[in-house]
Amino acid sequence: MSKLDVAAIQADFPILSRKVRDGKKLVYLDSGATSQKPKQVLDAERDFYEQRNSAVHRGAHQLAEEATDAYELARKKIAKFVGAQPNEIVFTKNATEAINLVAYAFLNATLKAQFGKPLPDGAQKFILKPGDEILVTEMEHHANLIPWQELADKTEVKLRWIGLTDDGRLDLSNLAQLLNSKTKIISLTHQSNLLGTINDIDTIVKAAKAVDALVLLDACQSVPHMPVDVRKLGVDFLTWSGHKMLGPLGIGCLWGRSELLASMPPFITGGSMIETVTMEGSTFAAPPARFEAGVPMAAQAVGLAAAVDYLSAIGMEKVAAHEHALTELAIEELLQIPGVRIIGPTNTDNRGSAISFVVDGLHPHDVGQVLDNNGIAVRVGHHCAWPVCRRYEVPATTRATFYIYNDDSDVFALRDGIIAAQKFFGVSK
Ligand code: ALA
Repeated sequence: MSKLDVAAIQADFPILSRKVRDGKKLVYLDSGATSQKPKQVLDAERDFYEQRNSAVHRGAHQLAEEATDAYELARKKIAKFVGAQPNEIVFTKNATEAINLVAYAFLNATLKAQFGKPLPDGAQKFILKPGDEILVTEMEHHANLIPWQELADKTEVKLRWIGLTDDGRLDLSNLAQLLNSKTKIISLTHQSNLLGTINDIDTIVKAAKAVDALVLLDACQSVPHMPVDVRKLGVDFLTWSGHKMLGPLGIGCLWGRSELLASMPPFITGGSMIETVTMEGSTFAAPPARFEAGVPMAAQAVGLAAAVDYLSAIGMEKVAAHEHALTELAIEELLQIPGVRIIGPTNTDNRGSAISFVVDGLHPHDVGQVLDNNGIAVRVGHHCAWPVCRRYEVPATTRATFYIYNDDSDVFALRDGIIAAQKFFGVSK
């Protein structure tokens, strides 16, 4: 497999040529939080606003028609990127909203059933009974934990979770007990945003299917970084955000099996998602429109489709191989620094490029500050995965994440920055 031409890729990202902190080169190692955007994406969004800006699925004029075509073409491209059909893709504000949409389908179906209100055919799967269970894991981002905690809080279902091993993997030793006939859904991350762990989805899907539980996969940290095909994964729902995969802020995606989406009540209601409306009540459109109330984020969808084109032209296998090599190098370099401990797997098997670490004697924020003074952008804190920090008994971590525009020199800059932080605070070993 030929290597990525990182210099050519970097040239496509205007922000990478700016200087930070008194003229230093920007070393961007925070793509796990949000990726940078190539000019192809920026141009696509600008072109939408300059040439066809209009509210899609409304209006009878040429601009409205062109905007609608661009929006629906974007849906087709984005669907193809994950092996889905266009009508199975719902655009949301972000992945958090996509997960909430599914959690609220359970809540709304349960409430409507309680009050004897009509529900779509097949909604039974979403009606919760006392004693039902929802399963998550201890490595979830808050976006895939709090919606389920809230659902459990408002109903009589029990939230359970799969714990973690000392080396940063899911502890599947009691999976059969946790994933049982009471489980309605297991919602888990494909790749941990803090640990970098890539989970064994095959095993989870097999176990879930055996007890007829649904599977939602939070793919925020996987869709941007490796080939993802919803049919091959065998899950029921996939959620991810656009801004972590070179796309614009303000757009996320929910993929759901079409028969499941059709059986779900809506989450956010209003214009566009209806079939008929009277003062007494309304009926709702088929998916995906049922879940896209209000004027949609068309420019962002067009920008995200351009991001998909960009990544597809490189090839996701090559993206994954490139990041794998950087991860291997970064782990090797960091482990050689006395006093540095990686929180997460220290081998590269089933592991992505999020590398969280702590430095003996230093608070992660202090490490982050020295790195920043050297032009190196990382994330510090609990990374919206506070239970993971608790599990490994650290208050926070410093986290580096790599993408297509990073190369070996960025890994060496990170290594040198950590050593500089140790020297600055007098904790070198
Ligand atoms: N979810 C993003 C991260 O992990 C913001 O940094």
